[in-house]
Amino acid sequence: MAVLTEEIRNRIRAEFPNYPNKRAVTLPALHMVHEAFRAVSPDAMREIAELLELHPSEVADTMSFYGFFRTPDRPMGRQRVWVCRSLSCMLRGGEELLAGLCDRLHMHVGQTTPDGQVTLEFAECLGACEQAPCVLVNDECHGNQTEESVLEQIKKK
Ligand code: FES
Repeated sequence: MAVLTEEIRNRIRAEFPNYPNKRAVTLPALHMVHEAFRAVSPDAMREIAELLELHPSEVADTMSFYGFFRTPDRPMGRQRVWVCRSLSCMLRGGEELLAGLCDRLHMHVGQTTPDGQVTLEFAECLGACEQAPCVLVNDECHGNQTEESVLEQIKKK
């Protein structure tokens, strides 16, 4: 049975005219599948490869190059929280913030809470250094963060 729904397949096919060749759609396709399933399985990789007329190993190569994509053995939580650990944020408590969140959520960096709610990761500069320390909660960047404010952001979602 196919992993990718017809809707996802059509969304991937709809990208073909926007790129010089099907191979160039690999990254957008991986993002679509990852967003839908919170991980990309080997079967999904094979189906993406079939759609893009590539060998599955080519899709796997692209996927493994980016730390962003998760596999089914460590899927992404419903919320992905990235704590910046680059210089400005580090100087303004980013590392302590990340360590504190790990304690509060009873997890290590890179893990997902057992209820599948939150994945906590570190990020490099989020481009909002003037508001350090910064945290990305899903697609939203939040500055001047504390443990409490991050936990509040998580609760709101
Ligand atoms: S150093 Fe954290 S946002 Fe730039």
